[in-house]
Amino acid sequence: MKIIDLRSDTVTLPTQAMRQAIYDADLGDDVFSEDPTTNRLEKIAAERMGKEAALMVASGTMGNLVCILTHCKRGEEVILGNQSHSFLYEAGGMSALGGIHPHTVVNQPDGTMRLEDIEAAIRGDNVHFPRTRLICLENTHNHCNGTPLTTEYTKEVATLAKKHGLQVHLDGARIFNAAVALGVDVKELTGPVDSVSFCLSKGLSAPVGSVICGSGEFISEARRNRKVLGGGMRQCGIIAAAGITALEQMTERLTEDHANARRLAEGIAKIPGLSLDPESVQTNIIYFDLAGKGISAGRRLGEAGTLIKRLADRGIKILQLGPTQLRAVTHYGISSEDIDMTLNALKKIMIDS
Ligand SMILES: Cc1ncc(COP(=O)(O)O)c(C=O)c1O
Repeated sequence: MKIIDLRSDTVTLPTQAMRQAIYDADLGDDVFSEDPTTNRLEKIAAERMGKEAALMVASGTMGNLVCILTHCKRGEEVILGNQSHSFLYEAGGMSALGGIHPHTVVNQPDGTMRLEDIEAAIRGDNVHFPRTRLICLENTHNHCNGTPLTTEYTKEVATLAKKHGLQVHLDGARIFNAAVALGVDVKELTGPVDSVSFCLSKGLSAPVGSVICGSGEFISEARRNRKVLGGGMRQCGIIAAAGITALEQMTERLTEDHANARRLAEGIAKIPGLSLDPESVQTNIIYFDLAGKGISAGRRLGEAGTLIKRLADRGIKILQLGPTQLRAVTHYGISSEDIDMTLNALKKIMIDS
C-alpha cells in the first residue's frame, strides 16, 4: 500500500542528489575545523542568512539551545511565545541545562507576540527579578498555523529589543518557507535578529542537521557551547554534504508544498464535520478540527473507529494534537495526487461516520 505521510515535514527522505553528495563528500575532523564540506556548508549558510559566521548542529532543538546558552547566563530570562516550539517541545532544555528562565508571552493566532506584551514582560532592574536578556521569535510559527512573520514585524521586535539592551534569537526552523511565502529574500527576515537557527532536515529534505548563524564572536562562543552539549561531530561533512544540496536545490520548490497545503485546506474546509479556515494556511502546515461529527480524532492512537486509524488503514498518516485537533504537513514527496487521495479518504470517512 502506498503511504502518504502528512505527519510532519521531518519525514522527508534525502534526494538522489543528496545521496550522491554524501557519497562524494570530502571529509576531515570538524572538531579541528578541518572538515572541508562542513566548512563549506557553514560559509554558504552564513551568506544566505546575511551573517558573519555559521555553525552546523545536530538538530533544531540543539540549535535553539546552543543559541540561548550563548546569549544568556544562568538566572537570566528569555521572553518567548507561549506557543513556541522552544517553550513547548524542547524538553525544557534552557532551564534543565542552562538555568535560564523562560518568560512566556501570549502568541497571537498569526504567531506574533504583541509588542506591548513583550515590553510589559521585560523586567526592571530589581533584586527580586531575573534579568531579561533575550527575546525569541519563531518563523514560520509551527503551532500558529505555520504563519510567516513579516520583515516589518521582525524589525519592530528588534528595535524594541535594542531599546532595552536585549538580544533577539530567531527559531527559523522553516525560515525558507517563510521567505518563499512572503516573496522576500531570507536575509530580510534574518537581518534584524542577532542569531538564527534553521533546519536542513524539514522541508529541505536533508537527513540530519540544522545551522545557526550570527556574528563571528557569537559563533565562536556557540562552538564552545555545542561542544559542552556533546555536539563536536568529527567527520560531519557526511551530513553537511546533503545540507549544501538542500540549500542549493530545495528552497525554491517549497512553493509546491504551499500550493498543496492550500489545496488540501480548501478541500478539508468543504467536508462536513471538519472545520478549518483556508485563509489561515500560508505555508505547509494545516491545523483542522473535528467539528462534532461523533467521530473521535483518535485520542488513543490505534483505537478502531478513530479518524486517525481509519486514515491509517488507507495508508494516510496525519498527526493528532488534541482531543479534536489534527495536523497535516505537506512536503517534498507529497504530490497533488496524494492531496486528492487524502481528500477523498477524508470525505468517505466523514460520510460513513
Ligand atoms: C519551529 C520548530 N523549531 C524547532 C524544531 C526542532 O527541530 P528538531 O526536531 O530538528 O530538533 C522544530 C521541530 O519540528 C520546529 O517545528
